[in-house]
Amino acid sequence: MTDGSTARESSGLLLKQVIGQQVLPKYLKPWFEAYTQYERQPEFVNTVESSTENREYQKSVLKLFIRNIESDHTKELHEDVFEAYASYMIPSLDETERKNIVNYAISPAIAVRLYEEPNVIAREGGTGHRTWEAALALADYLVDTSSFQTTPRSFVELGAGTGLVGLVACQLPYTEQVVLTDGDTTVVDNLEENMRLNSGTIGSKVCSQKLWWNKDPPVSLVNTEATIIAADVTYDSDLFPALVQCIKQHLALPSTDNALVSATIRSPETYQAFLDECATNSVKVHVLKTYTSPFASRHFFISPESPDIAVLRLEL
Ligand SMILES: C[S@@+](CC[C@H](N)C(=O)[O-])C[C@H]1O[C@@H](n2cnc3c(N)ncnc32)[C@H](O)[C@@H]1O
Repeated sequence: MTDGSTARESSGLLLKQVIGQQVLPKYLKPWFEAYTQYERQPEFVNTVESSTENREYQKSVLKLFIRNIESDHTKELHEDVFEAYASYMIPSLDETERKNIVNYAISPAIAVRLYEEPNVIAREGGTGHRTWEAALALADYLVDTSSFQTTPRSFVELGAGTGLVGLVACQLPYTEQVVLTDGDTTVVDNLEENMRLNSGTIGSKVCSQKLWWNKDPPVSLVNTEATIIAADVTYDSDLFPALVQCIKQHLALPSTDNALVSATIRSPETYQAFLDECATNSVKVHVLKTYTSPFASRHFFISPESPDIAVLRLEL
């Protein structure tokens, strides 16, 4: 195989997918193995350089790759790898100014590029500047179940963050419209930049707006059937009354008949509090799928350190 298409045996993810996603280098060893033969090392360098624009990340991947080869006395380091690594010692002038872009090569037909800071947990009080594991799981679920959906459908995303789930949803064959929403204005600004970054693939199907749960009115779509989508919005039980009210307001609209919520179960008590809040409000919850480490997604690398992630279907 060529062009970074050697898959890691167990997950099937390609080298270009994990590099594009800027997976932490410590997880990349299984992908290194296919490229440590002398004659395959230049292909490794090419794939790393063509799958991400982040030079700091490229440098840290090559550093670990070189260390891997040098620790094995049966292997010889190719001069192309050494030269590529040496080139990172000369900093490029605009490197620190440039915003980081993560490339999600999800399937041959679906790709998303996002301005995001993958290793930042919270910035300016907000958690929406990186893509969380629950978003990867929900996007994975939507892609894997898309062939079962036969009628056109639209999506409204709550707490969209970087917008990954909605930007994947808009590329599914049956999707009519997608509205990305978040309550944080800096997150909505970034959502708009992410929409522009993907304008070539998403066309005019997607728009964004600020929506603070249970303060702003629900998004009402006409002439379409809609699903609410929301990933990693169940981390703080103080937010549940407003969140569940917001979901309920949407489910009460004639156009919206269900919600898909993916919940990272960091604490069983918090997860149970969300289920209890739904029950108190007569919102029915069905567990559609539970993602458990080691995650077997064919579309995303999901950190093996993530707790279980439940994909839930909510309806009245
Ligand atoms: C943990 S992040 C998840 C982001 C994205 N869905 C993901 O999984 O990558 C939670 C998101 O919910 C948004 N949020 C939190 N409280 C909110 C509220 N009361 N109304 C609207 N959005 C809210 C935050 O701004 C943030 O973008």
